[in-house]
Amino acid sequence: MNNLTPTSGSAFAAHRASPFDAAFAQDVLTGLSHAHKSLPCRWFYDARGSELFEAITELDEYYPTRTEADILQARGAQMAARTSPGSVLVEFGSGSSRKTELVIEALPALAAYIPIDVSIDALADAKMRLARRFPSLRVLPVVGDFLTPLELPIELENAPRLGFFPGSTIGNFTPPAARNLLNDMGHLLRGSSASGPSPRLIIGIDLQKELSRLIPAYDDAKGVTAAFNLNLLARMNRELSADFDLAHFAHEAVWNAAEGRVEMHLVSTAAQSVVVAGQQFAFADGERIHTENSYKYTLTGFHKLAQSAGWQVLDSWTDADSLFSVHDLVFTG
Ligand code: SAH
Ligand code: AVI
Repeated sequence: MNNLTPTSGSAFAAHRASPFDAAFAQDVLTGLSHAHKSLPCRWFYDARGSELFEAITELDEYYPTRTEADILQARGAQMAARTSPGSVLVEFGSGSSRKTELVIEALPALAAYIPIDVSIDALADAKMRLARRFPSLRVLPVVGDFLTPLELPIELENAPRLGFFPGSTIGNFTPPAARNLLNDMGHLLRGSSASGPSPRLIIGIDLQKELSRLIPAYDDAKGVTAAFNLNLLARMNRELSADFDLAHFAHEAVWNAAEGRVEMHLVSTAAQSVVVAGQQFAFADGERIHTENSYKYTLTGFHKLAQSAGWQVLDSWTDADSLFSVHDLVFTG
């Protein structure tokens, strides 16, 4: 698997992330040393970042969450018809697990729900809420990076597995990395049992559209997305003894037509130097830190990607305005 960090999945109760995360420090020191400074977007999601992401999902401009929820609600019966009772639902980057409630409601009785996320706070909140709403459902959170090899609870090894990867989180990876990740997910979901039904994956994909809709989704009027982006600097100040002055960095969201992606950057609004974990970094006036890519697909573009990663498309659903899509895939790779 792509090894962005050396952490592997761990049982939920086993540990809390330490305030000093060596993998975070390493990614930051490497990313800020590049000629074009960049940081992996997984580091957005500390407790504050997860809260800000939830606030983003409620913005008028951020159409993906409500549009995907509507599609999931409308297509629940079709997803359920293909799902064996006693399946295990495995979600990648589960965050608040709010949309998951729609899927859990629609599916036949599940043996368990396994949410995987790097954000321990998001997992803890979701587990408490789900326990109230679905008291008989086993919820087995895994704190971990889905880009690294993960182990799922062994006692569920023989249950059919249904993957769930909503939110167009796959769009945060370049197409080659997305292909590797989708293929790795297929193997993780298949597990060691060669018999039994092939694993399926329900995946949400944001679609290409006019820029007048796309850019405000990443640069909203209330400045919540700006706060989400700038929180990365605040996180480095908190956890890596950095001295970023947030007043001297600005949020920027731009469309990169050649790559088919929205990019988020943090732009230095002055010539300045910053210390991070004891190392000094110079910023020219106007210099950027590239913090996120969010690829937008066409339906056929995504189908090609899925097929190249070993997944066959069973169904694809969109909303009436073709803003967002949800796909039901089966692993044949
Ligand atoms: N699935 C939710 C949340 C999407 S936000 C939704 O659709 O609304 C992306 C989520 O993925 C965050 O909760 C973040 O913490 C998690 N995440 C990002 N990179 C990750 C990684 N490499 N491994 C595990 N979780 C990751
Ligand atoms: C999680 N991910 C799919 C979101 C996106 O739309 O790329 C994260 C986000 N970044 C800014 N706003 C939301």
